Amino acid sequence: MSERGGPVLKLVNLQRSFTQGGGAIRVLRGASANIAVGEVVALTGPSGAGKSTLLQLAGLLEQPDGGEVILEGKTCSALHDNQRTRMRREKLGFVYQFHHLLPEFSARENVMLPHMLRGSRSKARQYADELLERLGVGSRKEHRPPQMSGGEQQRVAIARALVNKPILLLADEPTGNLDQENAESVFEALLEIVRDTQLSALIATHNLNLASRMDRHVALDNGILSEQR
Ligand SMILES: Nc1ncnc2c1ncn2[C@@H]1O[C@H](COP(=O)(O)OP(=O)(O)OP(=O)(O)O)[C@@H](O)[C@H]1O
Ligand SMILES: [Mg+2]
Repeated sequence: MSERGGPVLKLVNLQRSFTQGGGAIRVLRGASANIAVGEVVALTGPSGAGKSTLLQLAGLLEQPDGGEVILEGKTCSALHDNQRTRMRREKLGFVYQFHHLLPEFSARENVMLPHMLRGSRSKARQYADELLERLGVGSRKEHRPPQMSGGEQQRVAIARALVNKPILLLADEPTGNLDQENAESVFEALLEIVRDTQLSALIATHNLNLASRMDRHVALDNGILSEQR
């Protein structure tokens, strides 16, 4: 549980620059946001605005140049690398913009892998199967990623992010590779699982219809986040 009902995630004045071709580009210029327990927040912004960059920082995959990521009241920059890794493994689920499934393992094994680091194998398998069913790829459990469509692979990647029962889901365009109908059904299934497990979520999307169905919507522009209505 979050400390005294505080936000699950606080992003405070995040700064991030990259050097490119001799010049520096300031992608994040003081991006701030709070996500409460159980809240599902849409993250939008033009291509190149820094949504993936922001999610990488929130997901403790990268360190900001300035500002803080505070997860359940813990200031993450103050943690040692191994504590950050543990935090990431135990508290966060991540759906990448490009799914990074392991091609030599079946759908079920891809989903089970993070869970097998903890807990029992049979429980992991049971929950992996349940998630795959709910995401509409129950009949693809034994398939390996190269034998599945892009959309099917994306559903498997979503199941993998959820299998550890994280407190916070960070998803980078989880339905970006899907046609409208599939995007709808995968999003519905994802939202239902998120609600059932009282997860908080920050979901980057270019789809304003999906964004409007989340609890809140923040937009990234010119390096800062602003609340949308
Ligand atoms: N490792 C890096 N090195 C240099 N520049 C980078 C790096 N990562 C991101 N950038 C730059 O930072 C900017 C933001 O990129 P980012 O991927 O966060 O955008 P995005 O909002 O996720 O875009 P999209 O909607 O296309 O996914 C881009 O201009 C990109 O070129
Ligand atoms: Mg991106």
